[in-house]
Amino acid sequence: MQEQSQLSSIIYKKKSNPVLITNNDPLFIEGIWKDPQSKVIPPIIFQNGRETEDFLKKFKQPVAGIFFNSSLKDIPVIELIRCCHLYQPAVPIFIIADNKKNKNITFSEKELNLLGIQKILQDPVSFSNIIQQVIQPADAHLSQEVTTKNSTHNDQQLLENDLEFIPIRVDTFMSGCKSFFDLYLRLDSGRYIKISNTGESIQSDRILSFVKKNITHFYIKKESQKKYLDYCEKIISGIIQSENIKIEVKVEKLLQFGESTIAFFKNSGVNEDNIKYGLSFVENVENFLKKNKIESHLTLFKFLSAVAQAEHGSATAFVASLLAKAFKTEELKSVSILGVSALFHDIALLNHSEKIQAEDEYNMTESEKRIYYNHPLESSKVMSSVAGIDPMVLHVIEQHHERVDRSGFPRKTGRGGILLFSELIGLSDEFAQQLRLNQTDKDTNPFVAMLSVYPKFSQPVVKAFQSVFLNRGNS
Ligand SMILES: [Fe+2]
Ligand SMILES: [Fe+2]
Repeated sequence: MQEQSQLSSIIYKKKSNPVLITNNDPLFIEGIWKDPQSKVIPPIIFQNGRETEDFLKKFKQPVAGIFFNSSLKDIPVIELIRCCHLYQPAVPIFIIADNKKNKNITFSEKELNLLGIQKILQDPVSFSNIIQQVIQPADAHLSQEVTTKNSTHNDQQLLENDLEFIPIRVDTFMSGCKSFFDLYLRLDSGRYIKISNTGESIQSDRILSFVKKNITHFYIKKESQKKYLDYCEKIISGIIQSENIKIEVKVEKLLQFGESTIAFFKNSGVNEDNIKYGLSFVENVENFLKKNKIESHLTLFKFLSAVAQAEHGSATAFVASLLAKAFKTEELKSVSILGVSALFHDIALLNHSEKIQAEDEYNMTESEKRIYYNHPLESSKVMSSVAGIDPMVLHVIEQHHERVDRSGFPRKTGRGGILLFSELIGLSDEFAQQLRLNQTDKDTNPFVAMLSVYPKFSQPVVKAFQSVFLNRGNS
């Protein structure tokens, strides 16, 4: 096991770029590490989609090809495909069909082209099968030469200087795979000339001749990259359907919100029973959504597909459920009202900037603040278009930023005028925000930060929070 993690962190620099593999089947991963070739060209391996997404986002590590299986549980395959096109444009993408779980995955040539996928590899797939797709053994020397030259260049600088084209390292094209882009060269004059068409591959001796002329990057048009991103987004949002990539987002994903959130609660001394309770609450809300087919509403679906927002919604629902439990009120019968309101309280923020979505008003411009201050009403409006929604949900959402000291918005309603569920969600929302901050800045203390918001809530709500999270007050 230790050997595995050591190997996975090695990045093979001398010959070829490593392959990136994501597979949630431990036997498959074991098989790779047993393959002697994995010692020669150690792959970068992840066992879930989320880590792969993070890696792609944060590192510009050149890779020879990206391979992932068709039944990742934590994120939909289509989302990962989109991520590859966004962060590693032109790197060959392969899907390993998991035929045990998905029946006979086959894609038409047309669909593969639309998605920018090289091939579907059918089970069983060995490591040798994988590297054969993208690494030509005879080209090792050439790869070294190309990679060395590439490593001296700064991609970022090139990117900033150009609006229409994206530079791609020439070693990306060493795989011999067909390119999903027209490729261009940039001349010293700043003019671009096309050197190959979409669907063609570039022979290695041709690449070498470019490298000998000190060419380290080819270029693709940004609009071509956008074409693949748009197609993936249309599938994600349900505007078009892909027969083979079932949109696995749905509500199952909600429970993913929180390994780190749950770990935080555990480390903070929140007892196991409460954690179980909160999780089963979120699960109940999922079942409610499924039963009522609420998830088929396009905007709700999009919201659930937007990872960060779905996470914020479910973390808020999780905390709100524990506060409601501490109240032991009859109103707990209204699990669906509290849960649905908590989950979708910020749905109107869906299409706004990250700054607005983060609900950090201190960093907003005046026009951003205007949008932000109106979002409780807008969210309520979005939810009112959901067939069969309980009108109570709309009221609860409308008031989730009202505070008893009248410092809230949009109506500055005060003590006595705010629904209990709105307060529970409001306090949970504040706490979920602090947890979000804590994930990026471990020096923050969410509990200390909460001290300043207590005066904005009714005493019983604050006490409920303290009893659950700080083991003080009534329990
Ligand atoms: Fe909000
Ligand atoms: Fe929120």
